[in-house]
Amino acid sequence: METLRIALLGAGTVGSGFVKLLDEQRDRFRKLGLEPALTGILVRDPRKARPAWVPEGLLTTDINRVFEEADVVVELMGGTGKAGKLVLDALGEGLPVVTANKALLAERWDLLKAHAMEGLLYYEASVMAGTPVIEPLSGALRGNRTLELHGILNGSTSYVISRMEDGLGFSEALEEAQSKGFVEEDPFLDIGGIDAAHKLTVLARLAVDPDYDWENVRDNTRGIQGLNREQVFAAEARGMRIRLVASLTPGDDGWRAQVRPVMLPATHPLVLAAQTRNALLYRGDAVGEVLISGGGAGSAVTASAVVGDLLRMLEGYPGHPPLPAAVPAPEYKPEHMEEI
Ligand SMILES: NC(=O)c1ccc[n+]([C@@H]2O[C@H](COP(=O)([O-])OP(=O)(O)OC[C@H]3O[C@@H](n4cnc5c(N)ncnc54)[C@H](OP(=O)(O)O)[C@@H]3O)[C@@H](O)[C@H]2O)c1
Repeated sequence: METLRIALLGAGTVGSGFVKLLDEQRDRFRKLGLEPALTGILVRDPRKARPAWVPEGLLTTDINRVFEEADVVVELMGGTGKAGKLVLDALGEGLPVVTANKALLAERWDLLKAHAMEGLLYYEASVMAGTPVIEPLSGALRGNRTLELHGILNGSTSYVISRMEDGLGFSEALEEAQSKGFVEEDPFLDIGGIDAAHKLTVLARLAVDPDYDWENVRDNTRGIQGLNREQVFAAEARGMRIRLVASLTPGDDGWRAQVRPVMLPATHPLVLAAQTRNALLYRGDAVGEVLISGGGAGSAVTASAVVGDLLRMLEGYPGHPPLPAAVPAPEYKPEHMEEI
């Protein structure tokens, strides 16, 4: 049996979950004639406490050791700086890369796109974690003209708002989310809508325009930091719920991507589907309405997509290609959502 040598970058929430799941799914790789083996695991601090199943002897700060003789790179570090350099180095060497890093995909696309076109970049885990949205948008849904899509793509903001519905003020709800580890180290990434904006940018390039501009999405992004309890209660009194929604809709000037808090009926499919999860509502001219929902974060949920991408690669499927060319925005009146 041949060995599949995997260079792993990062052993945090997702990286450690990946190490565990890879071991649990070892038989799936063996059935393909390959024994998976980690060449090394790049971390900042090898002495940090980690789950027992993460092999201490593989933890290192030496990237040369990790990259040596690797067949594939799994990037679960996050960020756009060092992770960006390492991913580009690997792709430049012709190595396939599996990544969960939506910030990198959104912000460094000018350098990554050619490699994605070549099929070297696998990134199902980057949006809605293990709940599949990248694959449908780079495959089955391409048979449609996209009319619009709307997503609740960030669970932390839904958590904060739902705690405000329970009566907490914004700061109290945020502090609670932070204490439970539901919010990124820099809370602005979640609360300010940046994480959802990164994900929407990735989706826009799959659905409507391979060059959809990150800055354009960022400039049309507003988070929930201005929200207060009175607004949440007033919405409830009208049978509505406030949620941070990422939308891609056609307009007179082309496709518009925006992230902002909106008021939706409590019975709206997105509200119902995303009560504790993430959800994407897609409308296409032929397929009609498609609703995808499921876990959007967490160690095992995210690792599931990373292992899935690796298996997909071994079965001979290329990574996820963006749309080959931009499609014009159709003449279509998108769903109205009342902004807060
Ligand atoms: N957490 C989720 O639920 C989730 C869901 C979907 C996608 N993602 C994405 O998955 C990626 C990883 O997220 P995470 O939550 O696992 O992050 P995390 O817990 O902060 O883990 C990051 C890991 O990368 C290592 N690392 C970071 N910067 C480094 C550097 N400059 N040099 C060497 N090692 C470095 C860290 O080392 P140390 O351990 O030594 O600090 C740590 O092991 C991110 O792109 C994130 O957006 C996360």
